[in-house]
Amino acid sequence: MTDVVPWLETEQTPFLLIDQQRFLTNVERLQQRISALGCQLRPHLKTLRAVDAARYILPDLSSPATVSTLAEAEAFADAGYTDLLYAVGISANKLDRVRALLERGVQLHILLDSLTQAEAVISYGRQHDVVFSIFIEIDCDDHRGGLPPTSPLIGHIAQRLHRNGMTITGVMSHSGGSYSAKTTAEIVQAAEQECVAIRQAVAQIRQFGIACPILSVGSTPTAHFAEDLSQITEVRAGVYTTFDLVMYNLGVCALNDIAMSVVTTVIGHNAEKNWVLVDAGWMALSRDRGTASQHEDFGYGLVCDEGGVPLQHVCVTKVNQEHGVIALPDGRTVQEFPIGTQLRVLPNHACATAAMHQHYVVLTATGEREVWPRILGW
Ligand SMILES: Cc1ncc(COP(=O)(O)O)c(C=O)c1O
Repeated sequence: MTDVVPWLETEQTPFLLIDQQRFLTNVERLQQRISALGCQLRPHLKTLRAVDAARYILPDLSSPATVSTLAEAEAFADAGYTDLLYAVGISANKLDRVRALLERGVQLHILLDSLTQAEAVISYGRQHDVVFSIFIEIDCDDHRGGLPPTSPLIGHIAQRLHRNGMTITGVMSHSGGSYSAKTTAEIVQAAEQECVAIRQAVAQIRQFGIACPILSVGSTPTAHFAEDLSQITEVRAGVYTTFDLVMYNLGVCALNDIAMSVVTTVIGHNAEKNWVLVDAGWMALSRDRGTASQHEDFGYGLVCDEGGVPLQHVCVTKVNQEHGVIALPDGRTVQEFPIGTQLRVLPNHACATAAMHQHYVVLTATGEREVWPRILGW
């Protein structure tokens, strides 16, 4: 067992703990890697969704950032950030809020992948005299949204927007498929595939004399394994700041790089079944089972001792709303976990676990306590 920080023992559980030293190391690691490849990082701020975290990730307020909700865009704009990509396909009912941010002087880029969205944007722009800055979404791996990189629709949509006064700022893809990689070679390949897709896509636009300056790719796995980012202007990643068990299973990080855990207390035993009950159920851990399809299944999270040292094969195996059940592996007994013991649980998927909390308790690099509020809502 490692040294326990005294103030942590008195904190009311469950709560989400950020290890700031690990967080800072993770932030620095990717920043350096992407700079060394001659590219810029546009971090996705949706994992922690906290202005206090963003201040470390992007100390320069004019740096590009990615957001997943307009609530984030508004909060980061309030904090002084000026270049934000709202990386979820736009719907017409959100354009009033986008316009309000543009009128405040924020460069908020929106994303689309259909002519229907383009027409809605053009019509709104005409009605309200707004020029929107647009990214076209490209599908690099058949994972989610986006147009195939060789689709003639890319050029068609770009021309239609351009002729109607809109700005085609970039093309964007997200290699969500890299999460299913079985080997690091597959992640390298996924990274290459998204770069190829985005280069092909931009050519479809530039053949019509439209500049389209930004080529945006990224996910945490591909950002850590991309080898050739030529022509690519920016890389996005979000979960890299804290990592999680899915990233560990993919070989993107080590267990002791994971900067997020849920701190919980042992509240009971079922000695017959060799179960330990804790006060962190799905309300604290989330229901994410991202490691279920990977080579090591960590249930609802890997359990660590109160100092944060992982306990091999000890996982939260079942969750109710407020209760977590740790069915102990052979060789372990409930007596090793007296009632009142504090434990930490590493998350499967950091974004999902963080979303269950309204604020995070931060163990700073100097052992102090900080609290980072989370931006809530959409
Ligand atoms: C559009 C987009 N870009 C970047 C990311 C960041 O990827 P990761 O979660 O792997 O860090 C995401 C995550 O879902 C995303 O949706």
